[in-house]
Amino acid sequence: MKVLVVGGGGREHAIIKKLKESREISQLYCAPGNGGIAADATCVPIKSTEVEKLAAWAAENQMDYVVVAQDDPLCMGLVDLLRQEGIPAFGPDRLAARIEGSKVFAKNLMKKYGIPTAAYQTFEELDKALAYVKTAKCPVVVKADGLALGKGVLICMTNAEAEAAVTDMMAGGRFGLSGSRVVVEEFLEGPEVSVLAFTDGTTLRPMVSSMDHKRALDGDEGLNTGGMGVIAPNPYYTPEVAERCMREIFLPTLQAMRAEGCPFHGCLYFGLMITADGPKVIEYNCRFGDPEAQAVLPLLQSDLFSIMRATTSETLDQVEVAFSSGASCCVILASGGYPQKYETGKVISGLDEAAQTACVYHAGTRRSENGDIVTAGGRVLAVTAVAGSLPQAIEASYAAAGKISFDQLHRRSDIGARAMKAYQA
Ligand code: AMP
Ligand code: GLY
Repeated sequence: MKVLVVGGGGREHAIIKKLKESREISQLYCAPGNGGIAADATCVPIKSTEVEKLAAWAAENQMDYVVVAQDDPLCMGLVDLLRQEGIPAFGPDRLAARIEGSKVFAKNLMKKYGIPTAAYQTFEELDKALAYVKTAKCPVVVKADGLALGKGVLICMTNAEAEAAVTDMMAGGRFGLSGSRVVVEEFLEGPEVSVLAFTDGTTLRPMVSSMDHKRALDGDEGLNTGGMGVIAPNPYYTPEVAERCMREIFLPTLQAMRAEGCPFHGCLYFGLMITADGPKVIEYNCRFGDPEAQAVLPLLQSDLFSIMRATTSETLDQVEVAFSSGASCCVILASGGYPQKYETGKVISGLDEAAQTACVYHAGTRRSENGDIVTAGGRVLAVTAVAGSLPQAIEASYAAAGKISFDQLHRRSDIGARAMKAYQA
């Protein structure tokens, strides 16, 4: 079978590496891919947001299945376009992708169906939002409605900060149309857990839980990034919490999406906070997390392609979804300066040595004219090791990551430290 994966980061590389294990796939393509993905799939030079072009290419080249891994093409309706071409795809259609694409949609859904989340108000007019945040209890969280690369969330310690945030989003145009509507919500406290789950709209199979590390610097300091590292499983996600999430959050969310006429197919990502009042939803994503996928998929023992197709054909109850009982740690190697200004084009060395003991997924890389692999983005590589226990996984991923170098490489040195504390508590 011929399969196309849409995207070009570390998450897509992890998906492709796993799909390569499937006997049923004869040819793998990736649009647009990157310098490392090119070793595992045929790269197609079409951007993931050129959805019409992608659907036409898939039809012309007779793809049997397409995996849409990124939020933008999902929210733009690529799965719907492929369906019109008669090509089955992994991922939600445009209406179901609103669960990530519009925070207002997601918050209203949770309120209507009683799914635990932070209390909130939504605003479309600046003066009403300003009047509200002037007296709101602080800290308070201000979120742009639409997609903003994980950067549309501001935690405001004072009312003045919240007024500035609301003004910036609604009048400053900082997030374009994404910021024309805002959600202002209660600040929650507790450890965060990411749970990715396969679903066909009715059946839900959660994957191993994980913990992202969103801040740029050690000790959770510095700016929010797309994610600097992940460990799995997450020790805060105990069997009791898992059972409660299934009953109070996961199944009610599927039910709610069906009731709204937009059943969700694909990978649903639950960003959870384990508060003193129990687990609450911080956000939904309509796709695998990046870099959560790079830590979770290496632990998957079942055939990813069979699972993906079962989410599309609504037969997920008939396939096995099994994970190894070990642990994994994924460390991101980034360009110095990320998530702000950084340089690219730096030659990367040590990739083969690192790959002997770990999975090395490429995020922002490309092959230069003289054949070197060079940096081409903020997050450059994801280095994941799998081991019998979390401390072993942490040690092995750092040992492998230490073999890779490039000018101005930046990585956190404490991925997994918070999780280790939970084990010791
Ligand atoms: P999001 O893009 O919605 O995942 O938000 C990014 C990060 O902001 C989350 O991972 C949390 O750490 C933090 N955050 C979002 N909403 C809240 C909230 N209501 N209370 C506390 N922290 C939050
Ligand atoms: N790691 C968070 C995300 O993919 O949105």
